[in-house]
Amino acid sequence: MKIAITGKGGVGKTFIAGTLACRYAASGLTTIAIDADSSPNLGLTLGLSEAEVDRIVPVAENSGLIEEKTQTGYQGVFHLTFTVDDIIRSQAVLTPCGVKILVMGTVHVVGSGCACPAHHLIRTLINHLVTERNEIVILDMEAGIEHLGRGTAEQVDVMLVVTDAHQASLVTAGRIVRMALNAGIPHVALVANRILGSGQEEQIRVFAKGLGVPVAAVIPYDPLVMEAGVQGISPVGGDTTGTRAIAGLITWLSGDA
Ligand SMILES: Nc1ncnc2c1ncn2[C@@H]1O[C@H](COP(=O)(O)OP(=O)(O)OP(=O)(O)O)[C@@H](O)[C@H]1O
Ligand SMILES: [Mg+2]
Repeated sequence: MKIAITGKGGVGKTFIAGTLACRYAASGLTTIAIDADSSPNLGLTLGLSEAEVDRIVPVAENSGLIEEKTQTGYQGVFHLTFTVDDIIRSQAVLTPCGVKILVMGTVHVVGSGCACPAHHLIRTLINHLVTERNEIVILDMEAGIEHLGRGTAEQVDVMLVVTDAHQASLVTAGRIVRMALNAGIPHVALVANRILGSGQEEQIRVFAKGLGVPVAAVIPYDPLVMEAGVQGISPVGGDTTGTRAIAGLITWLSGDA
């Protein structure tokens, strides 16, 4: 299953992507987490040290790999046939909870029709990743809606759109949901995060109903997650109200999605 985690900036995408990935890995599934954010921080969230994160060469900056996988000698024409598994095997880095992480890096896209090889490689990598039954791929996407315009998040089985109760988060979530439904993504759902009280939960449920999508999980505001962030400790392996709610998200994904 290929799951993209989207939403406005700062709503909790990386925390949810990381925790979900660790929980899947702990259940014995081969789990690949793809940091598709141009300012990546999923590695730290998954418990890698700063030095380990610094050693990762993002796909977009790996000129040898890009050249090897895309060059045909004709400008704007790229090879389409490379095996994604090979790239995963050679580029992904193992994190402490057993999740393999692949960092995409920054692609300097001018307009949505960018034909640069790095962007092409990333889009093809994400879209051609074929998951087996015992494999989970989790994409921690860039904030906002651009990834849908660029075609990097369309070929997923599930799109989880994270939102808190802020109006601005809901507006962005609504745009993403509509674009994802238009793009034909099979399962699109909201994930309510950092929820304080039943009023906020109800607000998001009403909003989801208006959009015609389910709420896959309600994750409470969890002071331990916030504190872990302040201390620079990975929050994803803990047993707290927030991470337990993400276990509930796995139950939803195995039933409804
Ligand atoms: N349920 C929660 N309870 C408390 N704090 C949370 C919760 N979820 C996320 N946070 C905190 O909110 C902050 C933003 O979370 P995170 O980095 O996961 O968001 P993001 O959507 O990935 O942001 P960006 O758009 O910058 O990538 C972090 O400090 C994180 O620890
Ligand atoms: Mg993030």
